[in-house]
Amino acid sequence: MDLPVQNVKFSWLVSTLLPLVSMPGDAGNAPTYSWRDAETQEWLVCNQCPPGTFVKQHCSHRSPTNCQPCPSLHYTQYWNYLEKCRYCNVFCGEHEEEAQACNATHNRACRCQLGYYAHADFCIEHSACPPGSGVVTLGTPTQNTQCQPCPKGTFSDNSSSTERCQPHRNCTAFGMFLNVPGTSFHDTMCTRCASFLSSTPEPGNKECEKAVIDFVAFQNISLKRLRKLQQALETPDSWQREWPEPENRAAVQKELLHRLTELSDPQESSIFVLKLLQALRKAKLTTLEKNLRKRFLLALKD
Ligand SMILES: *[C@@H]1O[C@H](CO)[C@@H](O)[C@H](O)[C@H]1NC(C)=O
Ligand SMILES: *[C@@H]1O[C@H](CO)[C@@H](O)[C@H](O)[C@H]1NC(C)=O
Ligand SMILES: *[C@@H]1O[C@H](CO)[C@@H](O)[C@H](O)[C@H]1NC(C)=O
Ligand SMILES: *[C@@H]1O[C@H](CO)[C@@H](O)[C@H](O)[C@H]1NC(C)=O
Repeated sequence: MDLPVQNVKFSWLVSTLLPLVSMPGDAGNAPTYSWRDAETQEWLVCNQCPPGTFVKQHCSHRSPTNCQPCPSLHYTQYWNYLEKCRYCNVFCGEHEEEAQACNATHNRACRCQLGYYAHADFCIEHSACPPGSGVVTLGTPTQNTQCQPCPKGTFSDNSSSTERCQPHRNCTAFGMFLNVPGTSFHDTMCTRCASFLSSTPEPGNKECEKAVIDFVAFQNISLKRLRKLQQALETPDSWQREWPEPENRAAVQKELLHRLTELSDPQESSIFVLKLLQALRKAKLTTLEKNLRKRFLLALKD
């Protein structure tokens, strides 16, 4: 009945104590290699040298293997019988940083620096997600940024390798009126302007002017119509101006926004609005004109 207990004790001894006495570098546990003794021509069994060291002198019938530490900038990663340590021959290139310094047991290792990922032996900058799309997964040293078109109810108005699509703001939650619904390219635009009364003094008109400008510039109308409106807003002398092709909507909208802001004048807001209504008519944007009148309760005649 004693026997099983002794067995248990014995295996406990083996598993617990043996690792303690088999430290790296311990000759008793070292891998070996065959070496011919220079004097006696006898084949000997020599101990290998542990990682971080090399064979300074092979064993002989007189002495065991003489292991010495690797000099600086050199390494041996494994048990070995090398007569020289290996040179740390990895160098970090452009847009790389050291992931593992050169030491006695490891070669230098590199990885792409922050903002770059490894592709075909190069470190390439993480892509930015263009406006209208946002980051789903941030880029890593080994993978590019992953983008997705902004889902309904969210937007991204810039190019970024870190920004996700943001939810549209909710005007009523801010106690404001909805002016322009959000798209995947821009946020919902809110305003405190309920109606545009030409008699209202500052600052009411400033807020309303801004609202009118946003309302017109961010209408969901075709690029062609946006351009027509742009032309209709030009002064006669710049009327024949050539618009740079090809342009995207966001760029034209931005230009339009700029032009309208240029034309606006809080002191003379009714004149500005009249000009705008005329331009809308000239550009045959009658539905937009009607919507604008309705939205801001414009009773202005021209
Ligand atoms: C060398 O670097 C490795 C990895 O960082 C580390 O595990 C090891 O302890 C280092 N060796 C020495 C001798 O510093
Ligand atoms: C992009 O827009 C977001 C939200 O409007 C802003 O936080 C971020 O700084 C912008 N990024 C760039 C690169 O302009
Ligand atoms: C906006 O907020 C209001 C009040 O907080 C809420 O009733 C409404 O459902 C919200 N609208 C959206 C589109 O989230
Ligand atoms: C804008 O108009 C296009 C076509 O007229 C339509 O497909 C799209 O859904 C509209 N976008 C918004 C945000 O209303």
